[in-house]
Amino acid sequence: MAAQSLSLWTIVFMFATVTGLNLEGELVKDLMRGYNKNVRPMEKSGDITKVTVKMTLTNLISLNEKEEALTTSVWIEMQWCDYRLRWNQPPRSSLYKNLTSQMRIPSKSIWLPDIILENNVDGKFEIALYCNVLVSPDGCVYWLPPAIYRSACSITVNYFPFDWQNCSMVFRSQSYNANEIELVLTEEDKQPVEWVVIDPEAFTENGEWIIKHRPAKKLTNQRYTKDELEYQEVVFFLIIQRKPLFYVINIIVPCVLISSLGLLVYFLPAKAGGQKCTMSIMILLAQTVFLILIAKKVPETSQAVPLIGKYVMFVMFVTIIVVMNCVIVLNVSLRSPNTHSLTNKSRKILLNIVPRLLKMQMRLWTPSDDCSDGSCNGYGHSTDASRNVFIVPCRRRSSLGLISKAEEYVMKTARTELMFSRLREREGLMKSALEKIHNGLDGDTAQNLAASLAQASPEVRQCVASCKHIAESARQQNDFDSENEEWFLVGRVIDRVCFIVMMLTFFLGTVGIFLTGHFNQPPSVPFPGDTRLYLPPQENSTIDE
Ligand SMILES: *[C@@H]1O[C@H](CO)[C@@H](O)[C@H](O)[C@H]1NC(C)=O
Ligand SMILES: *[C@@H]1O[C@H](CO)[C@@H](O)[C@H](O)[C@H]1NC(C)=O
Ligand SMILES: *[C@@H]1O[C@H](CO)[C@@H](O)[C@H](O)[C@H]1NC(C)=O
Repeated sequence: MAAQSLSLWTIVFMFATVTGLNLEGELVKDLMRGYNKNVRPMEKSGDITKVTVKMTLTNLISLNEKEEALTTSVWIEMQWCDYRLRWNQPPRSSLYKNLTSQMRIPSKSIWLPDIILENNVDGKFEIALYCNVLVSPDGCVYWLPPAIYRSACSITVNYFPFDWQNCSMVFRSQSYNANEIELVLTEEDKQPVEWVVIDPEAFTENGEWIIKHRPAKKLTNQRYTKDELEYQEVVFFLIIQRKPLFYVINIIVPCVLISSLGLLVYFLPAKAGGQKCTMSIMILLAQTVFLILIAKKVPETSQAVPLIGKYVMFVMFVTIIVVMNCVIVLNVSLRSPNTHSLTNKSRKILLNIVPRLLKMQMRLWTPSDDCSDGSCNGYGHSTDASRNVFIVPCRRRSSLGLISKAEEYVMKTARTELMFSRLREREGLMKSALEKIHNGLDGDTAQNLAASLAQASPEVRQCVASCKHIAESARQQNDFDSENEEWFLVGRVIDRVCFIVMMLTFFLGTVGIFLTGHFNQPPSVPFPGDTRLYLPPQENSTIDE
């Protein structure tokens, strides 16, 4: 008995299922009978079809700065009601009232509201897949097609790579004006969904961009009349901020390091000559490479210069000044007293005041009174211990120089004179010795003795004159050398002054430019002057962490 009733129930159930299936097929057949998908659902004349739109972002694929294109993967949810598709009202309700669930119908076989991405960049206005629509018994249609959109996004390059961008996706009906369909944002819990929906489960985070704000708005352009297609649109904004770490590691840090090397040029001595210039010009070349790297990345616009471009220009400018300094310093350091003379005034400034201000370790020049002409130097007098003046001991003159001086004197003196003096040698020696002994009794000063010796012996006189000549020319050589040295020191002082100026410029410029970038944060609200955040109530804070 029980088995019989069970099998009966099974048969009844199967029958019901089959009838149900048949019922659904019947309904679809019924709905499509006489359905013209090209005609807008308008029950009464003047009816406006209301289409609600909601966008769910699943992936912010990329923002191509050069092409100014934002690629996103989204789901566009659209809902509208089509009176021709309902079956909960007579005459269909009597036949199909048992079908209370939604029905799936191919989207290509019913009327669609033609909503397209207006600001696309690749001529692809449409969605990626025409999936089925869900139709409710009251004839309302729910459609959730996926799409990969490439929308135009005008890039503000000024602060690249510390920038944020304001991209928008504009949706409009391609063929129906505001008198025919009304575009609105979907309402959930009596609240319009004024944001781009992001499901944290399904969302793939972009490596380069953080989404700061994602408001959505229905806009009406009052410039157009309701008959024009441009009158109404639904706009989804994505205000995104770049994570600059990639550029910091790959461009900024190497650029700062290489450019700071340029300042080391000031520590190369002038004797290194052209190496100073070579080094700074190599750095200039390296900076050009960075400039090319940046130019490859940002759009080719002349409206604004990106921050990083400004920075590279700045360091190139600094390096060019360094090259110019090097040339000037080389010119000054390798001057000789024969071609250029240094006045006491410039000596005072460059070799005394400035080095003292900069606390440089070098001999200071002090003006001396005993030499009237400009060729003398004052280093010998700068023995002032209280001022902690650093005194370099006098260089030892080479004995070879002295010998050559003596030979020079011998060459200058006539040969015959030397011969006669050789003849007179013995006689003179005797005489002088005698006279020395004789005069030694009354003349006790050394000067007298020297005078008498000179008087007595021409050899001694010659020797004294020769020594005088040697001393004189050695002094001249010394003056020449020390003036040469003075030009070197002037070069060093200029180098040091320029180093300090350039280091400050470089440091302040670097810090200034990157602080500018750091403070370029997106505004705290999506629309200036509007305090609303355009976010779902349960997540008032932004989605990023
Ligand atoms: C609807 O279902 C009920 C039982 O659930 C059944 O009695 C009735 O005949 C069905 N109506 C139609 C039109 O199939
Ligand atoms: C983004 O752009 C829209 C217009 O395109 C503007 O209304 C909005 O204020 C901008 N948002 C920000 C944060 O600047
Ligand atoms: C969100 O805002 C509501 C009031 O608008 C507030 O009560 C709630 O604490 C906020 N939640 C968070 C996470 O900030």
